[in-house]
Amino acid sequence: MFKGTAAHLCLYWRAVYLLAAGVALPSETLWMCPPPCRCNAAVLDANCSGAQLSSVPDVLPQHAELLNLTHNMIKTLVNRQFHTLTQLLHLDLSDNLLALVEVEAFLGLQSLLTLRLSHNNLRIFSVGVFAGLTNLQLLDISSNKILVLLDYTFRDLASLQVFLADNNDFVFISNQALTGLSSLQSLILDGCNLTAVPTEALTQLHVLKSLHIYQLGLNTLPNYSFHPLLHLKELVIAHFPRLETLSGNSLFGLNLTSLSIKHCNLNEVPYTALHHLVYLMSIDLSFNPITYIHGKLLGDLLRLQEFHLVGGSLVSIEIGAFKGLGYLRLLNISSNFLTTLEAGSFHSVDTLKSLGLDNNPLACDCRLLWVARRRLYVHFGRHPPTCKTSAQLQGWNFLEFSEDDLLNVLTCRQARIVDRRSQDVRVDQGHSVTFYCSAEGDPQPSVSWLNPQLRQVSPVGRIRALSNGSLEVRYAQSHDSGTYICLVSNAAGNESLRVSLHVKALPPPSKIHYSLKSWPVFPSSPPGVDGNENLSFDVKTLLIAATIGFLSFFGSVSVCFIFMFLWSKGKGQIKHTATIAYVPRSAMSNSNTGTSNYMETGRFTMKLI
Ligand SMILES: *[C@@H]1O[C@H](CO)[C@@H](O)[C@H](O)[C@H]1NC(C)=O
Ligand SMILES: *[C@@H]1O[C@H](CO)[C@@H](O)[C@H](O)[C@H]1NC(C)=O
Ligand SMILES: *[C@@H]1O[C@H](CO)[C@@H](O)[C@H](O)[C@H]1NC(C)=O
Ligand SMILES: *[C@@H]1O[C@H](CO)[C@@H](O)[C@H](O)[C@H]1NC(C)=O
Ligand SMILES: *[C@@H]1O[C@H](CO)[C@@H](O)[C@H](O)[C@H]1NC(C)=O
Ligand SMILES: *[C@@H]1O[C@H](CO)[C@@H](O)[C@H](O)[C@H]1NC(C)=O
Ligand SMILES: *[C@@H]1O[C@H](CO)[C@@H](O)[C@H](O)[C@H]1NC(C)=O
Ligand SMILES: *[C@@H]1O[C@H](CO)[C@@H](O)[C@H](O)[C@H]1NC(C)=O
Repeated sequence: MFKGTAAHLCLYWRAVYLLAAGVALPSETLWMCPPPCRCNAAVLDANCSGAQLSSVPDVLPQHAELLNLTHNMIKTLVNRQFHTLTQLLHLDLSDNLLALVEVEAFLGLQSLLTLRLSHNNLRIFSVGVFAGLTNLQLLDISSNKILVLLDYTFRDLASLQVFLADNNDFVFISNQALTGLSSLQSLILDGCNLTAVPTEALTQLHVLKSLHIYQLGLNTLPNYSFHPLLHLKELVIAHFPRLETLSGNSLFGLNLTSLSIKHCNLNEVPYTALHHLVYLMSIDLSFNPITYIHGKLLGDLLRLQEFHLVGGSLVSIEIGAFKGLGYLRLLNISSNFLTTLEAGSFHSVDTLKSLGLDNNPLACDCRLLWVARRRLYVHFGRHPPTCKTSAQLQGWNFLEFSEDDLLNVLTCRQARIVDRRSQDVRVDQGHSVTFYCSAEGDPQPSVSWLNPQLRQVSPVGRIRALSNGSLEVRYAQSHDSGTYICLVSNAAGNESLRVSLHVKALPPPSKIHYSLKSWPVFPSSPPGVDGNENLSFDVKTLLIAATIGFLSFFGSVSVCFIFMFLWSKGKGQIKHTATIAYVPRSAMSNSNTGTSNYMETGRFTMKLI
């Protein structure tokens, strides 16, 4: 079948040549089609793909605009290999065994627009390889084994707009490697063996609009990584498996409209690094272990229209998360761990046109009623969201509900306080008190406590809100007295309960009052009581330290006094000088009997005041 077509083509070509000869064209070799290739004069292309060639054919159709040499076994391109093809627009050498491209191999291809060298064995380009390609617009060197890009390698490619260099083994991109690419608009680069963003090399690309960087082994994207790329609109950072954070100024100097940071290791939305990108229209943070989208932190991204975070670890999108984003029309948060998505997270749900919410363990209750109500205006992609957590709705999807079902099925039970018995507690100062507040409702209500100053009680500290809903006041102080309010709430409503605490002050302790400013713990509670072990330990340590100090002091002083006492007894009268005898070590060891021998040698006199 295929052979038949080829034979047919050959015949066709003979006919063309004969015809050409007949009308006596200036050169009949213009359309010499090398034997294994298939040429098509009508569209001026020569298809030598898969022709078992081990080198570029010597004779090539001079008028060809496209030369396809893919899937051959060509190993080398020599100097001026294609110099006759002055009208060639597209040259495809992908999928060969190219290991060597000589300097000026492409010289003469003055019309060439695209050059594809992908899937070869290239390791390096000498400076001058691309000489003469003044009109080249696209260069594809992806999927080779290139290790370094040397200074000025691409200096002749002043018209180049698209440069594909992904899937190589770059270990080094020299600072001037990209110099001369003054028209480059789009660059795709793979950095699997680079240790840093090639910031300096990128600064040469004054009109770059789109930059894709894959596989860099960074933990943190440093400040000013892309600093002077003023015209960059699209930045894609993908497959940086270790990238955990973006420094606050890492995207400084950019004015992006589209940003993707995909398949990295971010565990938080990089709010700080993003906030100056006020022209951003689309952000994609898919496949990062991000757990929360916090409230009110994306508000600077005024023009944002699309937010993608597919395949993350989202457990919650807080109320107000997309506040300020008045143009948000696409939210794709498929394949996360979300149990709900509340209307309150959005600036307005009316702008939303696409919502990817499938593959989340959704609890179908009143919080998702808005999704069901807007299902005719919102596109859910191929998979509409389904209910996961409630047994009776297991597997239902939002397009199956009838209008009546909605209100009966997507319901909530208002948060309620279970035990409303009054809690009015009187204690002496220093005691601990627990107030109870347990709530029920669907979804499970949140419980919070307000102190008498109506400020929310935090989960840590002397007075703290416990995770089971109780309020604990430890070592009560008289100024803790007052009314505390327990507030339980869920999407369906809220309820509150007031409890009161009266702390009776003890008379102030009469003895030493510890007033060290640095003591962090409750000064007037008795040390050692109620598990307050930190304090008692401190006092003990202090006492021991003091005792040791005093003992040694008193020891030396009393030794002095004893000595003076003995001395004055011996002499019977008070003198104003004291003569102190001492025993040299060596003398001491061999003079157990004679005490008078050495008295002469070791003595000194001191004056008593
Ligand atoms: C070129 O030739 C190959 C092999 O004969 C064929 O598979 C392919 O479709 C051709 N390509 C074009 C663009 O004609
Ligand atoms: C060359 O031929 C291959 C195989 O037919 C094809 O995939 C490729 O797109 C062609 N290249 C160009 C530039 O047409
Ligand atoms: C570059 O990195 C890839 C994958 O990380 C590795 O397989 C390859 O050996 C590295 N090459 C060099 C030259 O280090
Ligand atoms: C990056 O810039 C931010 C904001 O100015 C600064 O707080 C941070 O220290 C800088 N980081 C480094 C590594 O210089
Ligand atoms: C940022 O980009 C927007 C459009 O993408 C443009 O209107 C605006 O002027 C740019 N701002 C600066 C400072 O370049
Ligand atoms: C969300 O993203 C996934 C994965 O890219 C895609 O399959 C799905 O169609 C998208 N959903 C919407 C609503 O765009
Ligand atoms: C809550 O926990 C505290 C301390 O763990 C305990 O004292 C209290 O009884 C608990 N409250 C309820 C209602 O279980
Ligand atoms: C409690 O519910 C009332 C209406 O029932 C509402 O006005 C109020 O804002 C809610 N308070 C909280 C803290 O949710």
